[in-house]
This record gives sequence, structure tokens and C-alpha cells, in this order.
Amino acid sequence: MAEKIAKFPHGFIWGTATAAYQIEGAWNEDGKGESIWDRFCRIPGNVQDGDRGDIACDHYHLYRDDIKLMKTLSLNVYRFSIAWPRIFPQGKGGINQRGLDFYERLVDELLDAGIEPFVTLYHWDLPQALQEEGGWANRDTVGYFKDYAAQVSKRLGDRVHYWITHNEPWVTSFAGHHSGILAPRIKSLPTALKVSHHLLLSHGEAVAVLRDNGDEKTRLGITLNLSPAHPASESKEDKEAATRFDGYLNRWFLDPIYKGSYPEDMMILYGDKAPKIRAQDLERISAKIDFLGVNYYSRQVIKADTKEAFLGLSQVKPADTEYTEMDSEIYPAGLYEILKRIHNDYDAPLMYITENGAAFSDKIDKNGQVNDKSRIKYLKSHFLQAHKAIEDGVKLSGYFVWSLMDNFEWALGYSKRFGLIYVDYPTQKRIIKASGWMYKKVIEKNGIEI
Ligand code: FCB
Repeated sequence: MAEKIAKFPHGFIWGTATAAYQIEGAWNEDGKGESIWDRFCRIPGNVQDGDRGDIACDHYHLYRDDIKLMKTLSLNVYRFSIAWPRIFPQGKGGINQRGLDFYERLVDELLDAGIEPFVTLYHWDLPQALQEEGGWANRDTVGYFKDYAAQVSKRLGDRVHYWITHNEPWVTSFAGHHSGILAPRIKSLPTALKVSHHLLLSHGEAVAVLRDNGDEKTRLGITLNLSPAHPASESKEDKEAATRFDGYLNRWFLDPIYKGSYPEDMMILYGDKAPKIRAQDLERISAKIDFLGVNYYSRQVIKADTKEAFLGLSQVKPADTEYTEMDSEIYPAGLYEILKRIHNDYDAPLMYITENGAAFSDKIDKNGQVNDKSRIKYLKSHFLQAHKAIEDGVKLSGYFVWSLMDNFEWALGYSKRFGLIYVDYPTQKRIIKASGWMYKKVIEKNGIEI
């Protein structure tokens, strides 16, 4: 039987994503300052098994070898983040040139390998010194972020064309400042909402400065974690609860960026806890961007729950379906749904999937291989949903698998493996998993066998 291939459009780009704190290590080398994650990991009980990112994948020293592996995988693009405290150890003031030197070497090495860099400016590792002054709850941090964006783009802007201001501001806001499960471990709803506003504002300010420092090739965007919110039943209460969850997770970030306003239902719901918005803030937040980065892992199933004071809802775990090691439901159709929805509701923006992937308990077999069949199945089923979205008119231009290699999964430490490449932490040996070899084929064919 002839092999059937779902082909992606010419020029579609395939890559992987990582984040500085999750892979670099070298936490205090070459003048780097302390970040809120360096601090968070040192407090017992914050991270599973007491793990921390001091060494992680030692990518700071092994980046050349890692880029060779990227080449082996035939990646077109690579998304990574810059650690703000490497550039400004105190978050502001004196610049640390050695920090910029590292990212310059990394970018040059990528370009030599024919791999286009996508740079994220903020993937959660705020300089601790700024946290001491209130962190993202302090409006001055917006200006410091703008200065940081200015300095980085001044040095790298001639070679880096793709910039992502923030990774998942919802996580920084709510996981960092409301549930407090991530750094900086604050538990206050008004603070979380204020933080979300400052993050969005800093995005707008960074866009302005990156545009000024850029040229005709510069492309700017932001990455959001988005999920469809499905009601657990057909009841009016569950449907309204799902709408509230959608407002909280998706529209709270999409609306200000694309419509220049916060969703009215959520402003009413948050009431006096809602952030104070100054004149021109929303205009700055809605500065024109060139693409939206979508991180998709799963959907959310929501039921009304009056016992839950915050949004009056709780999440439901559907039965008779599969889950990843992160206990997240495997739901590929949600990727199509969220892409189509953004296309319809937000004026058909150009999009990249900037993260998609799954953790499974990978094992090295007796031949020294990692045969991660579940990940292959997960990824292929999601690629096909992306393909379907493109066929239905969605402007999707690329796909980044999370992650290039196993790494430090935040509060879960090294217990969760997301990589296309297995990392043996004690020896720092890398093994390309079966999913990595599968991905290479997908990239080379620009399509998936079905
Ligand atoms: C996303 C994060 C990324 C990684 C994946 C699994 O929310 O952006 O750093 O932890 O989840």
C-alpha cells in the first residue's frame, strides 16, 4: 500500500523549545545574579526531592554538543530563553557583558548550524534583587524589563529576528502569585491580577523597543498557555462555569493583546480585586505584534462548584481516557479547537505552536535505547490536528516540541521527562529517543505518515 502523508505547507518550520533555568545550570557563573528560581529551590519543600537547577542539563557548558544534536534531528528552528539575571545580575543598573557573550556564542553557533533562533525574553527567572523590591507586583519592573529587552536586542538584534516577550504570563501571575505553587510563592489574588497587568504592560513596552531596535526582518510575539474549557455537562451552571474559566485562562490575556480591553465579565467578577489600569496602558499592551505563540498541552473540563470561592468552579478528570505522567488528559482535538477559535475570535493572527509535548516515564532498554512509543503517539496525533487546522484556513506557521531534552520541570524537579532526547543527569549523557528519530523524519518530509 502506498504510504499516505499529511504534508505541511512549504516553509512550515519545525523546532524544539527549552527555557534557561530548566537546562542551563551554571547558576552562579560568569557574573550571573540570583534568580527567584535559585532562591525558590533552596527552600525545603518547594521542589520535589529537593531538586534544583544549579546544574540541570549543564547546557551552559555543553551547548555546542546540544546544537550538534539539534542538527542530527534536522531542526529548522530552536526556541530558548535568556536568563535576565545573566544580563543584569541585579535586574537593573550594571550590565554583565559575559552574560550577553554566552547568548551571542549560542546564537552564532545555531546560525552556523543553519538553525534559526527564537528567543524568549522571560521564561520565569526574574532577578531575585527585583523580587526584593516587589517583583512583578511593582510597576517599576515594567521599565526594567524594557531596559533589559533594549540591551539584549541591541547586541543580538542583527542576528535574532524572532522575539517572544513572555512565556505563559498566566503561569507567572496565578501559579506564582495566587496558588503560589511556583516562584515567587505568593498567595494573593489581587497581587496575581496586578502582576498579570504588569506582565502584559511590559510585553507592550518590550514590543515597542524591540521594534525600534529591529529591522524589516524582525518578528515579535508573545507565548500564551491556552486550553479550551469544556463544561462537564449540559447544565446552565456548568456552561457558565466553563465560560468563567475561559475568561480566567484565555480571554484575560488574549483580549487586552488583540482587542485592547480586559473581558468585561471578568472585570465584574474580580470587582475591587481587579488591577488598576492607567490611561494608555491598554493601548500599549495592544501594540501590534506579528505572531502569537500557543502552548498547548490539554483541555480543561469544568463544573460549577459553589464550594470554590474564587471562580465557583472546579476541574473534572474525565474517565475512560488516557493521561500523561503529568496527569494531564491526552486530548489532541483540543489543539485544533483552540487554534480555530483564536483564528475566528481574534482576527486570524499568524501563529506558532511554541510548546506541545508530554512527559512519560521513559526507560533505557537493554540496547541502550529509549523506545518512547507513548510520546510518538501523543506527538503524531497533535501534529495531525495542527495539519487539519491549517487545511481549515488557520495561519499556523510552525511547531515547537517541548522539549529538546529532558530537563528541570519546575516544582516537579527532574522527576518528569519531556525530552526528545534522554538526559542521564549524573553523567550528562544524551540519548536520542525514538520520538526524536520520528520527529527527524517528520521534519525531513515536512509531513506525517498516516
Ligand atoms: C510549560 C512551560 C515549560 C514546561 C512545560 C512542560 O507550562 O512553559 O517551561 O515546564 O510546561
